[in-house]
Amino acid sequence: MGTSKATITLDGEQIELEVNQDSILQTLIDEGYDPPFSCTSGVCTTCMAKLTKGKVEMEVNYGLDEDEVEKGFILTCQSHPTTDEVELTYDI
Ligand code: FES
Repeated sequence: MGTSKATITLDGEQIELEVNQDSILQTLIDEGYDPPFSCTSGVCTTCMAKLTKGKVEMEVNYGLDEDEVEKGFILTCQSHPTTDEVELTYDI
């Protein structure tokens, strides 16, 4: 997976960053932001966000049902962008 540009809304703030091999959640943490998370293993859904542009691949997803995935909800601790650009929001 290459580099993707992510536009992320978190607590009313719009953040732009590049996501490489790490998950979207980990990238935010590494950049000094404070996204919500707990288990980091795809179970608790604390890190849930809604994808509004682009696509991601989740390593595992134990927390979301099919309906939620169809509506664009993602577990950011498991999500890696598969498109050059993604947009997502934690403010849901
Ligand atoms: S932090 Fe628990 S599912 Fe992502």
